[in-house]
Amino acid sequence: MAMMEPSMVTRKDSGVDFIVLGGGIAGMRAAIELAKGGRVLVLTKDDLYESSTEYAQGGIAAALSEDDEVTLHLHDTLIAGDGLCREEAVRVLVEEGPQQIHQLIDWGMHFDQNGTKLAFTREGAHSRSRILHAHGDSTGSEILRALMAKARTISSIQLQPHTFATDLMVENGRVCGVHYLDDKTSSSRYIPAGAVLLATGGLGHVYKETTNPSVACGDGMAMGYRAGALLSDMEFVQFHPTALFVKGAPRFLLSEALRGEGAQLRNLLLERFMPRYHEAAELAPRDVVARAIIMEIQRTRAEFVYLDLTAMDPEHVKKRFPRIFATCMKYNIDITADLVPIRPAAHYSMGGVATDLQGATSLPGLFAAGEVASTGVHGANRLASNSLLEGLVFGARSATAMLKKHVPLPFPSPKPNPRAECTATATPQPTDPQKAVDEARSILWQKVAIIRDGKNLSEAVKRLGEFALPDTSTPSRQTLEARNILTVAPLIARCALAREESRGAHYRSDFPLKKESKHPQHSYISKNSLPFFE
Ligand code: FAD
Ligand code: SIN
Repeated sequence: MAMMEPSMVTRKDSGVDFIVLGGGIAGMRAAIELAKGGRVLVLTKDDLYESSTEYAQGGIAAALSEDDEVTLHLHDTLIAGDGLCREEAVRVLVEEGPQQIHQLIDWGMHFDQNGTKLAFTREGAHSRSRILHAHGDSTGSEILRALMAKARTISSIQLQPHTFATDLMVENGRVCGVHYLDDKTSSSRYIPAGAVLLATGGLGHVYKETTNPSVACGDGMAMGYRAGALLSDMEFVQFHPTALFVKGAPRFLLSEALRGEGAQLRNLLLERFMPRYHEAAELAPRDVVARAIIMEIQRTRAEFVYLDLTAMDPEHVKKRFPRIFATCMKYNIDITADLVPIRPAAHYSMGGVATDLQGATSLPGLFAAGEVASTGVHGANRLASNSLLEGLVFGARSATAMLKKHVPLPFPSPKPNPRAECTATATPQPTDPQKAVDEARSILWQKVAIIRDGKNLSEAVKRLGEFALPDTSTPSRQTLEARNILTVAPLIARCALAREESRGAHYRSDFPLKKESKHPQHSYISKNSLPFFE
């Protein structure tokens, strides 16, 4: 969707109070809050609406139904996180979530209703029906519409699409602005700011197969890393179990809400297999379902399994999931009558730039919220529909902290290691950036995906370490994204190799058990440090 905004920043030297990198749920929620304290500039690298938020389907979780309680939402989130959630962060999420949703409704958000009451659906590992949704399966798009409409009523917010942030400006150890690519001249410019919020979303495109839109290249994580920020839990990547598998087509998401409302998984022999893997069958945690699918694919020597909606009322399916129905019809698949070929795809990053509960990172002047951040709220495996909620709650909290010039407590100290720089710089190879990116994505998909082991991870670390970063002296979006993907890919592989246990989305066939400990450890990595645990 192309959209021109009335006010554009053109001069490199006109500073603003706050820069927000990203116009998804976290960035827009933060911008609205930040506008209370000064001029806010929101940069997005593509059209304003091109973000994971825009494509979010299933919904947003909050304990708002009559039979629900925040303590149940807390409990379900902690169980899904497999012992690695920061409980205080989860408390913030589930306690502040409901009021943030009421605020959204006050700003004009329309959730689906049953009569006069909000309608709730069920998704995997939730003990209650607590997922609010909009237009059936277009929840994210309706949330973004409401946030953009609110932001457009605030004159101190400037929205600047098609502006690729390339790097953070750091002076005397403090982040004080952003370098960006001027699309027209292909030259680099900069904007000074009092504080910067990273709200750049996830990293799905570091993998060959992903549900994410093409903007999700891990840019914020790469920028934070280059500037010296601490990253945490990068090995924890969530694979959504059910992405449409049609050769040559993007891996379109088939919402977990389909299974919440009765869809079943069948292998190529048409056996329903999930009850063999987990008592909650199709509604087991995502990591369990994704692994079960991979095992069935291997067992039946197939490329996919089926999602079966044929026992559901066809009229209900069409009305409740109109976007999914229409998209599958484009591939001549009628989800009410046909078995739908699916397999897992990279979907969500639990790790990211480490933050405290106020969104502050280890670099003064830099905050992070939404998928780019690692608050510890999701632990080793995110509970379905908790990430839109995280964007709202922590977007608002980060903004409040930026307004108050919040100073965090010290973060874990990186273990200095001069040889730790894990992206290759020593022997640059004359590599075509696109070829290097294609190979890196394949390596991650084959060796650092759903079932991992030391041999494959070591090979991935070695090969990814051999890639030269592309020359960005005459930058283009393609080379800048390539640089970011080639920066982030080895971080995932290195942290996955370092974690010698299986926990949540990180499954190692050579270490199939969880390390039992009262205080499971988070992984950390930074520019000058090998992965370490604390
Ligand atoms: P995003 O919404 O991804 O926004 C990122 C923004 O950063 C974009 O505006 C982008 O242009 C900008 N950006 C990135 N890099 C740069 C750069 N270098 N310079 C300038 N701008 C940049 N979660 C749920 O809770 N419920 C769901 O139902 C759900 N469904 C999903 C369905 C799909 C298909 C996908 C992909 C994800 C889904 N998720 C869902 C996950 C959820 O949508 C995301 O985690 C969440 O929307 C992330 O929000 P965000 O604000 O952090 O980032
Ligand atoms: C989905 O609709 O299955 C996506 C929900 C999520 O990622 O939380």
